[in-house]
Amino acid sequence: MNYPIIRMRRLRKNANIREIVRETKVNKEDLIYPIYFKESLKGDEKEEIPTMPNQFRYSIESGVEYAKKLEAKGLKSIIVFGIPNEDTKDDIGSPAFREDGIVQKAIKALKENTNLIVIGDVCLCQYTSHGHCGLIKEYEDGDIEDNTDDGVKILNDPSLKYLAKTAVSQAKAGADIVAPSDMMDGRVEAIRNELDANGFEDVMIISYSAKFASSFYAPFRDAADSVPGKGNRKSYQMDSANGREAIRECELDLIEGADMLMVKPALPYLDIITKVKDEFDLPLVTYNVSGEYSMLVAAIDKGYLTEESIMESLVSIKRAGADLIITYFAPFVLDKL
Ligand code: PBG
Repeated sequence: MNYPIIRMRRLRKNANIREIVRETKVNKEDLIYPIYFKESLKGDEKEEIPTMPNQFRYSIESGVEYAKKLEAKGLKSIIVFGIPNEDTKDDIGSPAFREDGIVQKAIKALKENTNLIVIGDVCLCQYTSHGHCGLIKEYEDGDIEDNTDDGVKILNDPSLKYLAKTAVSQAKAGADIVAPSDMMDGRVEAIRNELDANGFEDVMIISYSAKFASSFYAPFRDAADSVPGKGNRKSYQMDSANGREAIRECELDLIEGADMLMVKPALPYLDIITKVKDEFDLPLVTYNVSGEYSMLVAAIDKGYLTEESIMESLVSIKRAGADLIITYFAPFVLDKL
């Protein structure tokens, strides 16, 4: 049986029909908004991020005000990033786990003033003087033990303690969820153990499980001032060509105790989202990263694309299998829905 008996266009006849047969919808509760708090900003100050038009770095006050506005429009969750004062950064990233650190203060203020689900990004790169996500060892030129690309080794096991400390400090500040984005091996287990040992067994972990070494983070690094001084992140973040390896990463995080998995970036990795969704039953988060935001915004600004491409992109991420999407477009979508 086929044409003319079967006519696919009947299902597309008009907007009402299309609406009832639509397979995928982006809902307000699917959105997680990434927000940046900068320690040096005070009161109602905020500054626009040059590489991300319409996105800002906030003071505690101005950020909480903005979060309240988004909550009133139906936002459910927010993920918090911090930008500490430059002169407080050191080689172990201590501003990441100070009780009065910028992220801890921001989490506390958000919990006190909103009912949002507050997620803390757990990483050291914005807080270390060298800009890497873990502790490092540097080699001299000609050192025969040096088997790195560029003389910087990112030390795995010594970093775990500080990542776990960071997670606990965020839990103490009131975070509902911590989200490690560093890509050190074993960090989910280290964080789970330390959270539990401190009485935070109800705090969840969203693991950035399959986080790729991506050029699409460039605007974020500008926003968060976290460009590595020397070297790159390819020895800890995943090679963009590897799909099967993403499954292994997710499997380990599941075993180590992750409550949700994440694939990041989103659009250039839709196949990975689908694979992970097929393979695992955990809720799946994806991160529609800074570069994905800025490239669309730039194209729309130039008139090459229209705003419709925003919803189309987000729907495609959900269609691929994402349950939740971390996206800078959240404010735009909240206004549309
Ligand atoms: C690292 C981190 C990065 C992002 C979130 N956490 C960047 C990186 O790995 O260099 C990227 C977010 C984005 O591009 O929107 N802590």
